[in-house]
Amino acid sequence: MPKRAIYPGTFDPLTNGHVDIIARGCQLFDEVIVALLVNPGKSPLFTVPERVEILNEVLTPQFPQVRIETFEGLLVDFCRHREVNAIIRGVRSFKDYEYELPMILMNRRLNSEVETVLLVASEENSYVSSSLIKEVFNLGGSIKGLVPNLVIDRMNQYRDRQGASNS
Ligand code: PNS
Repeated sequence: MPKRAIYPGTFDPLTNGHVDIIARGCQLFDEVIVALLVNPGKSPLFTVPERVEILNEVLTPQFPQVRIETFEGLLVDFCRHREVNAIIRGVRSFKDYEYELPMILMNRRLNSEVETVLLVASEENSYVSSSLIKEVFNLGGSIKGLVPNLVIDRMNQYRDRQGASNS
């Protein structure tokens, strides 16, 4: 049986920290499903189709064992439907661990067969988060080297579109 894992997230936008964790997950698992949460409650920078496109364009050429999917509702239900028993999450700090622990325990309570594997990104990605990327970008700072180049292109396009619609 191939070893499969799900790497869930909102990926708004995809960062080099996410890519780092995916690369590590690919060392451990035969197949990694990158699962994008469709969350109508949040107001994201990129739409779900835009994020799926970015994930596909960046990840598919680099990682043949990665598949991109979207999910709604409970993560453990998605795991059950895909018959996957492992969830990958990345942690950068104790703060991340504190955020992850209740989710891990709740997911375990909801489905005791699902195990969460916490992976640590490399030091150079240890401070990179999607929210910080958006803040720095919006304030005109450089995010080069922190996200895939395609993400920078798409963020520039987004800003140009916003500029055009505001002028
Ligand atoms: O990238 P994020 O925002 O840190 O990812 C959070 C995510 C998608 C892993 C989490 O919000 C999630 O699993 N949502 C699905 C709903 C769910 O299962 N909630 C109960 C988890 S304890």
